Amino acid sequence: MTWSLAAATALVGVLTAASSVAVSPGGVYPRDISDVCNQIKAAITNDSAVEFSLLDFNPTYNKDVGHWMTSSSQQAACSVEPGTAEDVGKILQILGDTNTPFAVKGGGHASNPGWSSTTGVQIAMYRFGEVNYDSTTNTVTVGAGLIWDDVYAGLEEHEVMVVGGRVTGVGVAGFTLGGGFSWKTNQFGLTVDNLSGYELVLANGSVLSVTAESYPDLFFGLKGGYNNFGIVTRFVLNTHPQGQVWGGLITITANHADEVTAATLKFQNSVSDPKAAILPTYNFLIGSLGVSLLMFYDGPTPPAGIFDDFLAIPYFTKDVSTRSFVDLVQVSPANATGGQRGIFHTVSVLEYTPAIMAAVKNESEFWGERLSLTASGSFISYDVEPFLSSLFSHAPEGSSAYPPSRAQGLLPLNIYYAWTLAAYDDVMHDAARQSAAQLTAVVEAEGQDIAGAALYGNYAMFDTPLERLYGDNIAKLQAIRATYDPNGVMALAGGWKF
Ligand SMILES: Cc1cc2nc3c(=O)[nH]c(=O)nc-3n(C[C@H](O)[C@H](O)[C@H](O)COP(=O)(O)OP(=O)(O)OC[C@H]3O[C@@H](n4cnc5c(N)ncnc54)[C@H](O)[C@@H]3O)c2cc1C
Ligand SMILES: *[C@@H]1O[C@H](CO)[C@@H](O)[C@H](O)[C@H]1NC(C)=O
Ligand SMILES: *[C@@H]1O[C@H](CO)[C@@H](O)[C@H](O)[C@H]1NC(C)=O
Ligand SMILES: *[C@@H]1O[C@H](CO)[C@@H](O)[C@H](O)[C@H]1NC(C)=O
Ligand SMILES: *[C@@H]1O[C@H](CO)[C@@H](O)[C@H](O)[C@H]1NC(C)=O
Ligand SMILES: *[C@@H]1O[C@H](CO)[C@@H](O)[C@H](O)[C@H]1NC(C)=O
Repeated sequence: MTWSLAAATALVGVLTAASSVAVSPGGVYPRDISDVCNQIKAAITNDSAVEFSLLDFNPTYNKDVGHWMTSSSQQAACSVEPGTAEDVGKILQILGDTNTPFAVKGGGHASNPGWSSTTGVQIAMYRFGEVNYDSTTNTVTVGAGLIWDDVYAGLEEHEVMVVGGRVTGVGVAGFTLGGGFSWKTNQFGLTVDNLSGYELVLANGSVLSVTAESYPDLFFGLKGGYNNFGIVTRFVLNTHPQGQVWGGLITITANHADEVTAATLKFQNSVSDPKAAILPTYNFLIGSLGVSLLMFYDGPTPPAGIFDDFLAIPYFTKDVSTRSFVDLVQVSPANATGGQRGIFHTVSVLEYTPAIMAAVKNESEFWGERLSLTASGSFISYDVEPFLSSLFSHAPEGSSAYPPSRAQGLLPLNIYYAWTLAAYDDVMHDAARQSAAQLTAVVEAEGQDIAGAALYGNYAMFDTPLERLYGDNIAKLQAIRATYDPNGVMALAGGWKF
């Protein structure tokens, strides 16, 4: 079977699977959590709502507990959609007083199980859906329930843009609370480098406007510190002018993968224009390797030469043009590869070399063949993200929880495995660990000192030591957490915990 036909068949299958909802395992919850749900229901205003599973016939509940990876979802006792920051405060106070496990979810793209799901109370932020542009401050206030597609669509009429997600469907909240690698990163740094404020609800119910001036400690901590300090209801992002962009998606079959590798290395080593970016992904799908290549140029026409080598490679599909930013983001097939069990893991690379690129291809074929035959592996994928090495230079050292050091640029390589059967969760997790270790060894053998290099929290697997994400920032982050959440209420929610 050719990769092309296989890919098309697989995508249709996955889309069908993604639209069916998880079945409730009985729908029986401890009486005390149901009581908490009812207590919340009685306390909130009518801007907010509590939802129950109703034996799976409640689409709002199903959406609230749903995730891009099905392994990131759990059946919660109830879901809550708060509509105001004050109601978020009331909910947190009840959860804290009753010591109830809970989760907070933005776009639901967390790869680690339990990071934004719970068997307790699921908080889903969808009702925070505003996109309010302020042309006097060149900022936009965005709700914590949005996905980037919505933000870009809302900014289009104002002809401005923010430093946000690269593909369709990803949530603003988790992305921004972890760091944020964007098409704009070569120009402006991470999403956290281009942020001027947060609306944060503390566990005691207080609603804070967090800026560099009002709460410098929280402003630092929230730039990478996720849900440790409270629940963020709104983000204030810096904007800059935006016109049409150029780029899109090319898919390439296995017999031309080495041409993509050569072009990628040449791009990394010769293109210094920060408006240009690529995202080649080596994917093993239904028995063979394929490459998905996303290309981006921040302007209607790229300067001659930058993308020529990529465009000369024979392709299977090609959708590349001058288009709006939101159109470019939506060309990616990201929605189609979700809807299965999954995990991310990561390696930080200083620069790609021929040996590292060969190892990436070898890993995707080695694990792709093995895991598809033995562990219901359906999509084995490696994202190569060759940013400019200056990517961390756009904000001062010590300005954010992540990255813990800006002394050297770290390029996050993303490992993504998808599979169908829960029985293979441990096997798949372990394979991703082994693959990350193998790639780390290859990178180190190339002379790159990455032994203590930070790993990106939005890609790293759940058992990664906290030191690998936050380095020397941990003590400071723990102190900030102790100040603003002295009773450890936010520890009742999953995630990276200080
Ligand atoms: C298809 C795909 C593409 C991706 N592309 C990129 C990319 O280009 N660049 C990049 O940097 N990353 C990327 N990622 C990783 C992405 O940044 C993470 O998956 C991120 O966590 C997604 O945010 P979310 O709101 O959708 O996740 P969620 O699962 O909703 O939340 C993730 C974490 O944030 C916490 N959280 C969510 N909302 C709040 C809140 N309001 N207050 C406090 N804590 C909160 C949750 O508790 C959880 O710990 C991608 C992921 C996927 C699946
Ligand atoms: C919500 O409550 C307010 C009063 O607090 C009331 O005026 C309004 O009609 C209510 N709205 C709905 C939809 O019930
Ligand atoms: C992003 O932040 C960097 C560093 O603070 C700054 O140089 C740049 O102008 C910002 N970009 C935008 C769009 O705000
Ligand atoms: C991907 O899914 C989200 C819903 O999670 C939807 O809003 C978005 O439009 C989808 N993207 C595409 C390209 O269909
Ligand atoms: C390919 O990857 C596997 C698994 O990491 C490894 O054992 C093997 O040595 C690699 N082969 C080559 C040629 O690098
Ligand atoms: C909540 O905690 C913050 C930070 O410690 C404090 O400033 C605020 O006064 C507290 N609010 C209430 C209502 O106790």
